[in-house]
Amino acid sequence: MLEIRNVTVRFGGVIALNDVSASFGRAVSGIIGPNGAGKTTLMNVLSGFVGTQSGSVTRDGQDLLRLAPHRRAHWGLRRSFQKEEIADDLTVYENVLVQIDHARAVSGSKQAEVETMLELVGMASRAGKLGADLSGFERRLTDVAKCLVGKPRVVMFDEPAGGMSVDETRQLGVLIQQIHGATGAQVLVIDHDVDLIREVCEETLVLDFGRRIAFGPTDDVLSDPKVKAAYLGTEEV
Ligand SMILES: Nc1ncnc2c1ncn2[C@@H]1O[C@H](COP(=O)(O)OP(=O)(O)O)[C@@H](O)[C@H]1O
Ligand SMILES: [Mg+2]
Repeated sequence: MLEIRNVTVRFGGVIALNDVSASFGRAVSGIIGPNGAGKTTLMNVLSGFVGTQSGSVTRDGQDLLRLAPHRRAHWGLRRSFQKEEIADDLTVYENVLVQIDHARAVSGSKQAEVETMLELVGMASRAGKLGADLSGFERRLTDVAKCLVGKPRVVMFDEPAGGMSVDETRQLGVLIQQIHGATGAQVLVIDHDVDLIREVCEETLVLDFGRRIAFGPTDDVLSDPKVKAAYLGTEEV
């Protein structure tokens, strides 16, 4: 269980998160809401880029907010950004391998761990390709593999389907659903694509102007009139 309790974040006069609480207990959980709702800020709080005015985030008895950001990676927190962080001058394999050094020790060899995760994301046959030569989708898959090595406990994706085709988004959704089984990690997904969220997230938190407006099983949340109203004029739910 990842317990977010009463988290508040202010940027000057803007309240980006206003007393937000949610207990994420499923294999894959979603975070949705209109632009500016505070979704990325919540991930920034978890990863340590943004400090809070109040609140706590606990998992397995550990208050994550009390860990220095670099310790959170070692603890098992992983994050993929809206723009993938892939080194152009390293191969796919090397991009993933360097990630292990920031992570918890794995039981087998590091090489075997990298190969397993490249297999899982479907990049094993392209392991020798340079970062610079990858398509957008290949970059995304490599980025996912980086999140999976070194025993992750929580993996967070911020708009992973941005710029992907319908077919690529579907493949990514299938992959995201395999993460918990393959690694034991709990997964959080932010996306604008409500179909993706409906497909992969068992439960979903909805933010609007920094406040929680709904949280629960995804189908219930997406049929909630408050949620539909928040999306009115921006997107079909
Ligand atoms: N570093 C920052 N400095 C000032 N304001 C910020 C910063 N990051 C986010 N905000 C503001 O906080 C609010 C929430 O932003 P964000 O979390 O990026 O929303 P979302 O990801 O849901 O679109 C917005 O009003 C945004 O302008
Ligand atoms: Mg965002």
